[in-house]
Amino acid sequence: MKVGILQYKPEFGEVEANLDRIGSLLSDIDTDIILLPELFATGYVFENGDELRYYAEPFPDGRTHKALKVLSEKIDSAIFGSFPEINGDNIYNTALFVRPDGKTRIYRKIHLFDREKLFFTPGNLPFEVFEFRGARVGMMICFDWIFPESYRTLALKGADIILHCSNLVLPFCQKATYAHAVSNRVFIAMANRIGTENRAGVECVFTGGSIMYSPTGDVLIEMGEDEENVRVAEISPSDARNKFATERNHVFSDRRTEFYELD
Ligand code: ACM
Repeated sequence: MKVGILQYKPEFGEVEANLDRIGSLLSDIDTDIILLPELFATGYVFENGDELRYYAEPFPDGRTHKALKVLSEKIDSAIFGSFPEINGDNIYNTALFVRPDGKTRIYRKIHLFDREKLFFTPGNLPFEVFEFRGARVGMMICFDWIFPESYRTLALKGADIILHCSNLVLPFCQKATYAHAVSNRVFIAMANRIGTENRAGVECVFTGGSIMYSPTGDVLIEMGEDEENVRVAEISPSDARNKFATERNHVFSDRRTEFYELD
């Protein structure tokens, strides 16, 4: 299976131009799954709730979802990334996993970051794992990374590969991802964006460094801080099904849950 990451700089509010740009960056790509950053079509720093509402789209068949369905069919690859989803009074930061046949899974960001708490509603759907082309796939979004429970839940549900779309501003996740890959023995692919947004008196400098690790911590993809690019790695998803760290250590069944206090 070929998994790719697109790292780029969206222009805030230029949804059509950003979608066109993604379309041209991916026009001759050969992947099974391609990851885009979080909020890849709108940008990140919304001035207020009204502005977010203006850019939010319904699911299914909002503008961004429709564009990804067309692109996914054209390039015969699933596409993953997030958009602002309006659903009644709520606006979620929602990841789409769009398959070439148009079928789409969503995940709504559970752990909101900083100012997102002012405008977005926290996700109300569980972490889930599903099959795609022989791989068991899980989804998460940006700040979910700081909670090891996010990765652990997906891994315990059987994920071979965790797809992680991001707009990272803190410098920690790229390194932390290594620990989550090896402690769960899963593939993790993390797509970040680059560039700076300075709006409403808030400056966000996005840290790039998109990364993909194997279940044993090999770096399969690593991008620079300012690199605008698409990179692809070939994986055998079933490599993530061997949970033995040594002959006598299984990373799930060796857990001593009676000693953990997780509530
Ligand atoms: C983040 O959750 N966008 C840092």
